[in-house]
Amino acid sequence: MKRAKITVVGAGNVGASCAVFAAQQELGDVVLIDIPDFADKTAGKALDLAQCGPVQRFDANIVGTADYKHAEGSDVVIITAGIPRKPGMSRDDLIQTNVKIVSSVSERIVKVAPEAVLIIVSNPLDAMVYTAWKTTDFPTHRVIGQAGCLDIARYRTFIAMELGCSIEDITALLMGGHGDDMVPLPRYTSVAGIPVTQLIGAARLEEIIQRAKVGGGEIVKLMGTSAYYAPAAGSVQMAEAIIKDKKRILPCAAFCDSEYGVGGYFVGVPCVLGSGGVEKVIEVELDGNERKQLTASVEHVKELVGIADGFMKG
Ligand code: LAC
Repeated sequence: MKRAKITVVGAGNVGASCAVFAAQQELGDVVLIDIPDFADKTAGKALDLAQCGPVQRFDANIVGTADYKHAEGSDVVIITAGIPRKPGMSRDDLIQTNVKIVSSVSERIVKVAPEAVLIIVSNPLDAMVYTAWKTTDFPTHRVIGQAGCLDIARYRTFIAMELGCSIEDITALLMGGHGDDMVPLPRYTSVAGIPVTQLIGAARLEEIIQRAKVGGGEIVKLMGTSAYYAPAAGSVQMAEAIIKDKKRILPCAAFCDSEYGVGGYFVGVPCVLGSGGVEKVIEVELDGNERKQLTASVEHVKELVGIADGFMKG
């Protein structure tokens, strides 16, 4: 069987962690790309990672480069390029700089990997997915944002911490944009099939939901920069579903038009992910309060997309 090829653009903390997880999971050959100023550093990271192969027993060619020709024929391209948050910044504060970076990366990717499925990680996420889509003109099912896998991982982690149970037994659903107004859905959260609402009282569950919503900011405060292990793990989870055609149901920023009445924006919704990218958006029933929260989150996404559009044209 021919090995898959995963290109990761941006060899900073998130990108390098993506490369590590993808290699460890033996998803395929990995190409790590960064700007020419960081070419040696990127090559060094790739070589260092390749030398984990004999210990961790993975076979993969790992290349670190500034030359996009190495991305040729990639099956999946994970775009992490862009500046991260510093304490006191929201994801939205990054928009002007990251629109330029994500557009320029996308222009290069479209030339070498026109058939790839793109996974966008750069922030502000929902607007960057739009930017990549506009620039590449890829079919919408091949442009997907990573946010839900991370946000839900945070939410599941906090529930497991609260209950002292295995994270493996927690399944949950979370929708909306990748902002502090994301919408975790306790009605669709269960612990080994038991509704979470039977195990955690309403007030405490609300505290956990709030912590999950601002979970990115909690880490920025602690580390002085954005999280990277969990964002990378979420991205690689999506890459695995695509490369292995697993048809996993994961929360991703996917293009929704009639779905949830979104009207043509990329927002976090449950999706079936397989070799074609987003193969289906699943529409779940929402009650009045859930719908209200989703609408508010989508309004925020629309506002950001408007700003991104302005910078793309400007
Ligand atoms: C976070 C960033 C990566 O939520 O968006 O940690």
